Amino acid sequence: MITTQDLTKVYRSGGRDLTALDGVDLHVREGEVFGVIGRSGAGKSSLIRCVNMLERPTSGTVLVDGQDLTALQGRGSRASRELRAARGRIGMIFQHFHLLSSRTVRDNVELPLEILGHSRRARAAKAGELLERVGLGDKADAYPAQLSGGQKQRVGIARALAGDPKVLLSDEATSALDPATTRSVLELLRSLNRELGLTVLLITHEMDVVKTVCDSAALMERGRVTEAGTLDELLATPGSALAAALFPVSGEGSGPAPTVIDVTFHGDTASRPVISRLSRTYNIDISILGAAMDTVAGRQVGRMRIELPGPYEENVVPIGFLREQGLQVETVRPGAAAFRAAGNSEKREAGR
Ligand SMILES: Nc1ncnc2c1ncn2[C@@H]1O[C@H](COP(=O)(O)OP(=O)(O)OP(=O)(O)O)[C@@H](O)[C@H]1O
Ligand SMILES: [Mg+2]
Repeated sequence: MITTQDLTKVYRSGGRDLTALDGVDLHVREGEVFGVIGRSGAGKSSLIRCVNMLERPTSGTVLVDGQDLTALQGRGSRASRELRAARGRIGMIFQHFHLLSSRTVRDNVELPLEILGHSRRARAAKAGELLERVGLGDKADAYPAQLSGGQKQRVGIARALAGDPKVLLSDEATSALDPATTRSVLELLRSLNRELGLTVLLITHEMDVVKTVCDSAALMERGRVTEAGTLDELLATPGSALAAALFPVSGEGSGPAPTVIDVTFHGDTASRPVISRLSRTYNIDISILGAAMDTVAGRQVGRMRIELPGPYEENVVPIGFLREQGLQVETVRPGAAAFRAAGNSEKREAGR
């Protein structure tokens, strides 16, 4: 639904070039909620603004619903008309809502319909329907100043939906809200995604947002996408920084040279008694150092940090057994001294 190919954005300010996007390839499938997460300055807002052409990409292409928006950048009136129409099919919501304070809630929602030239009656009917959908049917005549932050964002969402978009872009839409309000706005986005088949691309710096609402995610660092995939795929990727942040487990090993591993269960592996089978098959004692269960992308996922007796070399076979069962295994602290000398600290980081 949204594809960027080798997208770059270079800002020129004060005679200096600043590369905000450095060759971004992103693919958001139709009907999914896709989260882009990254530190401040990573280029997240630049990316989303290039996707709807609020910002002109320096190079690369942006395809939305099969249409190449970068090809519509020309100065011709036809190109700009087509670009305006294409933008109308992309809804956008913002951290600070961007509502007009002098207009009522209803008039804020009607604004994009006015620009599209809809009749007064059509506008009023559509605004009423959208306000009902976002749970604000009784606030149509209120002014933005009379609403809570969560209610303002709901108005922002209703306004974004006015043009019946297929795609909704969200730049930190919940960052100004408290946790309970954040949850309710995310639930609204989720239900719009399910009921309207809306594809959502959202930018956030909160891992909890990704965990609650996203099907897929990408990590941005210094203008590049360094990891991307469905949450299931990420959780199944050894060493994935996103997976570790989505689902941290902790716990320190005890013995002199034990092998500590993180085992991730997802899909149908979550319900099989793999650990007890491991213990019986190899006649070993297993200590559980830490464990967590959570729902990620609507599915149960478990992660467990366990300790196997003896150095890594002695546990190659049991670890192989776990992998054969379809579990993902990452070594946190290889027991053998040779391992400890080389690369242990990186492995530790990867296990975090
Ligand atoms: N209009 C602009 N002119 C010049 N530089 C810009 C402009 N907009 C963004 N930048 C720079 O581009 C880089 C990426 O900025 P961007 O706003 O995309 O980051 P971000 O990931 O959204 O950060 P945050 O989490 O703080 O919102 C930053 O170094 C920023 O200073
Ligand atoms: Mg930003």
